[in-house]
Amino acid sequence: LDLTLTHKVADISLADWGNKDMQLSELEMPGLMASREKYGPEKPLAGLKVTGSLHMTIQTAMLIETLKELGADIRWASCNIFSTQDHAAAAIAANESAKVFAWKGETLEEYWWCTEMALTWPDGSGPDLIVDDGGDATLLIHEGVKAEKDPSLLDREPGNAEEKCLLDRLKAAYKVDPTKWTKMAEKIKGVSEETTTGVHRLYQLEERGELLFPAINVNDSVTKSKFDNLYGCQESLADGIKRATDIMLAGKVVIVLGYGDVGKGCARSMRGYGARVLVTEIDPICALQAAMEGFEVVTLEDAVGQGDIFVTCTGNYHVITGADMEKMKTEAIVCNIGHFDNEIDMAYLESNNGCTKLNIKPQVDKWTLNSGRSIIVLAEGRLVNLGCATGHPSFVMSNSFTNQTLAQIELATGNYEVKVYTLSKKMDEEVARLHLDRLGVKLSTLTKAQADYINVPVEGPYKADHYRY
Ligand code: NAI
Repeated sequence: LDLTLTHKVADISLADWGNKDMQLSELEMPGLMASREKYGPEKPLAGLKVTGSLHMTIQTAMLIETLKELGADIRWASCNIFSTQDHAAAAIAANESAKVFAWKGETLEEYWWCTEMALTWPDGSGPDLIVDDGGDATLLIHEGVKAEKDPSLLDREPGNAEEKCLLDRLKAAYKVDPTKWTKMAEKIKGVSEETTTGVHRLYQLEERGELLFPAINVNDSVTKSKFDNLYGCQESLADGIKRATDIMLAGKVVIVLGYGDVGKGCARSMRGYGARVLVTEIDPICALQAAMEGFEVVTLEDAVGQGDIFVTCTGNYHVITGADMEKMKTEAIVCNIGHFDNEIDMAYLESNNGCTKLNIKPQVDKWTLNSGRSIIVLAEGRLVNLGCATGHPSFVMSNSFTNQTLAQIELATGNYEVKVYTLSKKMDEEVARLHLDRLGVKLSTLTKAQADYINVPVEGPYKADHYRY
C-alpha cells in the first residue's frame, strides 16, 4: 500500500461538475443539511477517524461532507466495482473532504486494494468508526483477525475469484504487520451498516460470538428499509434497465424474484410502466402480500420461459441458475438489484465453455448459451441500479444517510457493547420529520387527552417497537 496517496479517482478534472451536482442535491437532502446545521457546531466526530465502504455517488458525497462537518477525518472506498460516480469521487478528492479510493469499473483486485486503503491511515493505524454497506470493510477486518490468530488460513484454497483477491490482500498485509487487523479491531468503536445483506452478516457474526466491535443496523430503521429499499428501488430499477437497454417495459412480462422491501418496490415500478409482473417467493407471508397486491405468484421453474425481464431481489444465492438461463426466451434481460452478484449464477456463464459473451457496452453483455439462444445480462449480475444507473435519488438517500449520521454520532458518543443495535424509534421519527417540509406535509398534533387515550407522549414516539408500518 502506498499510504502517501491522498486519492485514486478516475479523473480529478470532473470535480467541478461533481460539486455542482452536489449543490443541486442540497434541497433534496433536507435531513443531511439539518444534521450539518444541528451537529456541525458541536463537532461530535472531532478527532475520530471514519472509514466508509459505500457506493461513491453524489448522495454519498453529501454524506461524507456531512461527517466532515461533524469533525471526522475520513477515508472512503466504494462497496461495488461499478457503483462509483466518477465526478462525485473527484469532487470529494478535490475538496479534500476525504481521502478517496474509488472509480467506476474497478477490478476485484483493485476493489480490495481500495477497501484496505480506506481502512489504513498513513501511520498504519485504522479507523475509530466504519460506515459499511454490505459489510466488506467489516469482513476484511474480521478475516484479517482470524488469519492473524491462525496464519494457516491464508493458505486455504479460495472458493472464487473474489475470495482469492481478499486472501491476496490479507497475505500482503500479514507480511508488513502480522498484527495489523487485531490492533485495528481493538480500537474500533463501531460500525453502522447500511443494507439488508450486511446486516445479515453482522447478526451471523454476533450469533457465532465472533463480532469484534459494536454495530448499528441502520437498514432496519423504518426510515431506511421502508423507504430506500422500497421507493428507492421503485425508481432506480427502471432507471438502470432503461439506461442499459432502452427497452419498452409496457406489455412485457417481468419476473421479480423475492418480494421483500426491494421486491415490493421493483414489482410496483414495473407494474407502473404497464408490464405484467410475476413474483416468486419462498415466504408464505410475502407471497400472500404479493398475491393480494394483484401480482401472480409463480415458481421460476414454471414461469421461466415466459419472462422478458428477470430481476433478483432476494439477497440470496443462485436464485437464477444456469439451467434457468438455458430455458429463457431469446434476449430475455437478466439483472440483479440485491447486494451481491451471486444471486444469478454468473459462474455458470463465465466458466461454461458453451457460453460466449458479446459486450454491447459497459455493463451490458449478450451471452449466447448452450441452448443456442442468447440473453442480456446487466452489470455482470451486480446491482443494476448502481451499475447501469446512478442508484437511488437524493431525497430517499437523505433518509438513509441521516440515519447513518445519527448512528455514527451514537457510536462516537455512546457506550455500546459488542452487539448489533438499531437506532431508537425517537430517532427514526426524527429522520422522517426532517423530510416532511420538503414535501409540503402538514403534520397533525395530538391533544394531551388524545395522547393519554392512546398512551403515548404528545411528542412521540408514537408506535411500539413491534409495530410494522
Ligand atoms: P428482504 O429480506 O426484505 O427481502 C428478500 C426477500 O427474498 C424475502 O422476502 C425472502 O423471503 C425472499 N427470498 C429469499 N430467497 C428466495 C428465493 N430463493 N426465491 C424467492 N424469494 C426468495 O430484503 P430486502 O431489504 O428486500 O433486500 C434484498 C436485497 O437487496 C439485499 O441484498 C439488500 O442488501 C439489497 N438492497 C439493494 C438495494 C439497491 O439499491 N440495489 C437497496 C436496498 C437493499
